[in-house]
Amino acid sequence: MIRTVEWSNGEVVMIDQTRLPQEYVQLRMTDYRNVAHAIRVMQVRGAPAIGVAAALGMALAAQAVDREAERGELDAALERAAQELMSTRPTAINLFWAVRRIWDLAREKPGWSTERCRHEIIETAAAMVDEDIAINRALGLNGADLVPENAAILTHCNAGALACAGYGTALGVVRAAVEQGKRIRVLADETRPRLQGAQLTCWELQEDGIPVTLIPDNAAGSLMRRGEIDLVVVGADRIAANGDVANKIGTYPVAVLAKENGIPFYVAAPLSTIDLSLPTGEEIPIEQRDSAEVTSVGVQSIGPAGIAALNPAFDVTPARYVQAIITEKGVAKPPYEENLRRLCESERS
Ligand code: MRU
Repeated sequence: MIRTVEWSNGEVVMIDQTRLPQEYVQLRMTDYRNVAHAIRVMQVRGAPAIGVAAALGMALAAQAVDREAERGELDAALERAAQELMSTRPTAINLFWAVRRIWDLAREKPGWSTERCRHEIIETAAAMVDEDIAINRALGLNGADLVPENAAILTHCNAGALACAGYGTALGVVRAAVEQGKRIRVLADETRPRLQGAQLTCWELQEDGIPVTLIPDNAAGSLMRRGEIDLVVVGADRIAANGDVANKIGTYPVAVLAKENGIPFYVAAPLSTIDLSLPTGEEIPIEQRDSAEVTSVGVQSIGPAGIAALNPAFDVTPARYVQAIITEKGVAKPPYEENLRRLCESERS
């Protein structure tokens, strides 16, 4: 199974996703600043993967402090790392959730020695890799029940093993359905401008021998109209309390087209992607990335020199387009205010 990011002998090891599918390269890091850089330039990307990578970055920051040092030194190092890691990308809530989870271990235990605190942080962060995979497997099983035999499933961006520590959310649903023996096919939107669908979704499904066909983003509507898509499953970067979903730019038009064509539109995400502090998707911060990602494909420039371009990395799909939200604790249906809160509370109890 693909392991996107993990802890190995005091190092963070991750697949460099900017090199796929041409080359499979693993990066090894011992400095949290390199992890922050990798998140910024999208060598690691996808909400759960960013979260796990950031938690492991916190572990590197803790590891760099001498066991014998004063606690204050460790606390200061963790604060620096937390601020740097949390400044990398604004939309995926998993990043903030994961950094705070590790940072809180120290903040809630001021009486622990530096050595004890370091140890707990490294153990907890390293365990988040297997925890993420287990969550995705549970989520996948919950979602597989919604997938009919012989289904053609459209997905957007990459919400697969590469977007998580492994297995995937939207593609976790696909994998679980395949493991149940269902014959299914995936249609992958190419996902301009960064092409996560073409480069990552197609690569990882091919690796697993799951039938996948690449389509241009603008083909989804006519394929739906011709009856060639049975359902849509995507991931999420942040879900507001009312069920509005922020995900890769281009998700919203897919959801609108799905509704117009009477096709179910599902969102698969762990509970750590739900942000109950935001009443609606209007409040979700949307990352704006470099316009060069739009004005070129790879190294090839595609517009006239000096052309202005907009590059919002995510959009918000209003909850009314979302048939269900698939989580590791169950499948939430409208009314989302009530049902998402209930799932999150079941997680805490
Ligand atoms: O910009 P990216 O590649 O980090 O965006 C990724 C997505 O939008 C995914 O769909 C989302 O993070 C869910 S990943 C399980």
